Amino acid sequence: MHFEIRHPLIQHKITWMRKFDTDKKMFRELLNEISILLMYEASRDLPVREIEVTTPLMKTRSFILEDNAVAIIPILRAGLGMTDILQDLLPIAKVGHIGLYRNEKTLEPVEYYKKLPKDISERHVFVVDPMLATGGSLSAAITIIKKEKPLSIRVLSIISAPEGLARMEHDHPDVKIFTAQIDEKLNEKGYILPGLGDAGDRLFGTL
Ligand code: PRP
Ligand code: URA
Repeated sequence: MHFEIRHPLIQHKITWMRKFDTDKKMFRELLNEISILLMYEASRDLPVREIEVTTPLMKTRSFILEDNAVAIIPILRAGLGMTDILQDLLPIAKVGHIGLYRNEKTLEPVEYYKKLPKDISERHVFVVDPMLATGGSLSAAITIIKKEKPLSIRVLSIISAPEGLARMEHDHPDVKIFTAQIDEKLNEKGYILPGLGDAGDRLFGTL
């Protein structure tokens, strides 16, 4: 299941992320900003609990997230570019990491790292990765995460290809994907068109 978050603020920021001459600093800032906007949508139905607080004027009742509500799981590397800002936004979150890269010939994901919070089964998981291309990496990451039985799994993706969304619908129809933009298609090398190029390389300057 996927949701394209069509919003002028997001559309504006994606336009600048796409431009080939947007530099690393601005690319990172735009990725941070869109990540917050996506998380705002994706976290809409998180459970809250009512507590009593004292304002400077009186006692009242008000809502908070549960301490153990959330885990954020970036897919390395590019997902790291979304993680710091989301941790700032949700300090209650624990962060797990899954390291996957695409074999450039087969486009199949290769796992090289995994460290997940021990209490992940009590948490709602948000997997973050800017690019959903063939869907191979995301599908593999979700398969790994599902073994730990979290309460729910959602995905934040900046740009998604129809091919990757279709694969996710086939492999993991229960996972909600919140994407800022659905692009046209993949090219023969598995890059999203029009896309924004290699997100990891643009984030970390390894072009
Ligand atoms: C990119 C991207 C996704 C993956 C998407 O990572 O960040 O993880 O490709 O492609 P897919 O949907 O076809 O699997 P990449 O493999 O380039 O690794 P990197 O983040 O280390 O650069
Ligand atoms: N990974 C990227 O970073 N960009 C693409 O277009 C496809 C996969």
